[in-house]
Formats: sequence, structure tokens, C-alpha cells
Amino acid sequence: MVPMQDGHYDLKKIRESITSRTRMVFIANPNNPTGTIVTTAEVRDFMNSVPEDVLVVFDEAYAEYVTSPEYPDDMSYLRAGHNVAILRTFSKIYGLAGLRIGYGLTKIEITNMVNRVRQPFNTNSLAQVAALAALDDTSHVENSRRINKEGKEFLYKEFDSIGIKYLPTEANFIYFQTGKDGREIFDAMLKEGVIIRHMGGQNLRVTIGLPEENRRFISALRKVLNR
Ligand SMILES: Cc1ncc(COP(=O)(O)O)c(C=O)c1O
Repeated sequence: MVPMQDGHYDLKKIRESITSRTRMVFIANPNNPTGTIVTTAEVRDFMNSVPEDVLVVFDEAYAEYVTSPEYPDDMSYLRAGHNVAILRTFSKIYGLAGLRIGYGLTKIEITNMVNRVRQPFNTNSLAQVAALAALDDTSHVENSRRINKEGKEFLYKEFDSIGIKYLPTEANFIYFQTGKDGREIFDAMLKEGVIIRHMGGQNLRVTIGLPEENRRFISALRKVLNR
């Protein structure tokens, strides 16, 4: 495990930590719970120096929410023959978490290996039909992206006005600190009927919701913090 720097993956440190015993490097991009990304330039430097026999896994569960122009095209590494796997899911922007379905993109040699160790009957046929239909539902994805972007701008504005520290996010949640113990804030928010996540210390994470949910969250937070 390589510690993050200000909520960001440190790809240089990860590269330095690779030894002959390293088999796989796992990068969530965007990352949960910080919502941060590794950029095109950072991934380029990393991929240019990573040993060929190390598998680099990019978990892109939140890819569809990203608005940054610096988000890397990890498929290009796969096309160029690198030892790369890209994971996507229908649990996030597609809203189908209950169907338990996602997909991976990688080399045929790796899919053959995964096939040997995967659980039998790991996805069901209804989930597969729904997933294929979801891939064509571009208006749903566009709508969710827009709602998320507007929600995040609203929350940034409110956080700024309350004086809350947060990391700008490329996902559908925001990592923030209120200056107080996170557990206490979590418990107090729960009493207001709002569930956020406590991530240790002062760190909290809130999911970006619908406009009325975001407003409800902010008014509960203002009440709890007395601000
Ligand atoms: C980075 C990341 N990857 C994957 C998942 C899980 O996706 P799935 O529901 O497809 O197992 C999550 C969900 O919390 C996540 O945050």
C-alpha cells in the first residue's frame, strides 16, 4: 500500500515500490472515497516505466461522471498491447447496482486466466439483457451526468459558504472535512435523518443526490455545525 498525497494517488511512489514480487497494481480512477483522478500525463509516465510483467488494473467504476479533460484513455494502453485491465460497472451512473453486473476489458490471455478462477454463474441472464440495454441508454447517462454536475456545483458553493474543506471531485460523491470529529458529525447527521459516510478522523464523504436531497443535506449540516 502506498499512502496518498493530499487525496491523490502517488504514481511515482507506486512505481518506486514495485519489486520483482509485484504482480498487480490496482488504481481506482476516479478514486473512492476521494473522487480524485490520476491524469493522462501521470498515467503515461507510469505506463512507460512499469515492468511489462506487472498487470495494471484501472478500476473505472465512476468514469462516466468525469468532466476533467485530463482523464486518461486507458484503452489506448490495452490497444498498444500493455498488460492492462480496465474495470467498469453498471452499479454507478447506470443505477443498476442491485443487478450485480459490470465488465472488464483486457487481453485474451488474462480473460482466460480470470475464467479459470471466477465463480460459476456469476452474472445472470436478466442482468446481462439489462446491461446491454443500459449501454444504449445514452440519454439516461447524459441526464445523470448533468444532475451530478449541477449537484456538485451547488454543494461546492454551499461548502464554501459554510467554510468546509473538500476535495474537488470527478465522481458522484465529495470527500470533506468540517474541522470537527467525523464520527460525531456522522452521528449527529444520522439523527437528522441524513446518512453520510465517516472515513476515519475528520474525513467524511457525501453522495451527490437529487437537488432536494442536496438541499436537505446542507440544511442538516448547517444545523449540526451551527453555521
Ligand atoms: C472504485 C469502486 N469500484 C467498484 C465498486 C463496486 O462496483 P460493483 O457494484 O460493480 O461491485 C465501487 C463501489 O463502491 C467502487 O467505489
